[in-house]
Amino acid sequence: MSAPTHELVRPCMSALRTVSITATGFYVPDRVMTNADLEKIVDTSDEWIFTRSGIRERHIAAEDQATSDLAAAAAQRAMESAGVTPDEIDFILVATCTPDMTFPSTACLVQKLIGAKNAACLDVSAACSGFLYAMDIARQYIACGAKQTILVIGAEKMSSVMDWTDRATCVLFGDGAGAAILQAREAKYGLLTSVLGSDGTLNELLMVPAGGSRQPASHEAIEQGLTCIRMAGREVFKHAVTGMAGAAREALLRCGANIEDVACIIPHQANSRIIQAVGQKLGVPMDRFFMNLERYGNTSAASVIMALDEAVRIGRVQRGDLVLLVVFGAGFTWAASLLEW
Ligand code: UT7
Repeated sequence: MSAPTHELVRPCMSALRTVSITATGFYVPDRVMTNADLEKIVDTSDEWIFTRSGIRERHIAAEDQATSDLAAAAAQRAMESAGVTPDEIDFILVATCTPDMTFPSTACLVQKLIGAKNAACLDVSAACSGFLYAMDIARQYIACGAKQTILVIGAEKMSSVMDWTDRATCVLFGDGAGAAILQAREAKYGLLTSVLGSDGTLNELLMVPAGGSRQPASHEAIEQGLTCIRMAGREVFKHAVTGMAGAAREALLRCGANIEDVACIIPHQANSRIIQAVGQKLGVPMDRFFMNLERYGNTSAASVIMALDEAVRIGRVQRGDLVLLVVFGAGFTWAASLLEW
């Protein structure tokens, strides 16, 4: 082999760049399902659902709306807000556990819907933690100069994996999507660090057992509800509290920050009691957390970016604020990201 006769371009060996979320957007389908609506379907009550989870209502997609449709609508809003055209997007990452289909990826379907013909497309599977996993992948690509403008989406049609006879799960989830545009920025504001973690030994505590290669969808699987969510609620609750508190602490430690420095904590919107317990572990009052789960329920991978978008729009997050995002999901997976807005 002979050495190249010219100087090679080494795109990933440039100095790391500061990566920022330059815009966000979210979309929820029109139909609202209240706790009172659920009282007519399963043996439950508004009082039980609200006191145990903090949820009052959730949005449910129309039958002909798939995850990619929700994702594309959120993406349009983020692109408009950023002033970015579809052609400028060079990577689309979609975090979801309810893809339109096994393949192609939901990201490819979003690409078609928004006309982002220059983008590479990839789905990220980390359940409710997926958005922060996807955002960290995007951060690495931009930081080293390999990509310039990345569309990161968390999108779910959780109603498509819901067992509407199982009151322990069907009251908790909702449909929706959130999107962020990530770009390099000269300014100091940006993503500071991300902590990602997983424990696959606990996979059975939260899963959709059938519909994959281990147990393909069959009449029997559908009749037994195995193509829907199965969850050991109390166990998940305990692990969510320790996982989120641990990830949050590690993210702060890596940046030499104290929890008092954080203006707003945006947690995965699964359950207000989980968030309270995380607050107690971290020694933070509840008014430092942003919550919108009362109106949307648990939208899995969409929840943290939907919450961030809303927090920014209502002025709860201001330019220069230190913001901590922290999530937990099936796998188990967990993650935290610290950023200067
Ligand atoms: O995104 C990450 C994934 N998921 C989560 O983060 C969820 C984590 N877990 C939780 O949020 C909570 O465990 C739940 C909200 C799911 C349940 O709250 P809990 O305080 O852990 O209740 P539980 O499961 O211990 O159930 C208490 C009782 C049971 O009745 P018995 O056995 O005490 O007679 C349940 O059958 O509540 C009953 N129950 C309900 N009652 C009315 C369960 N679901 C319902 C319901 N309505 N919807």
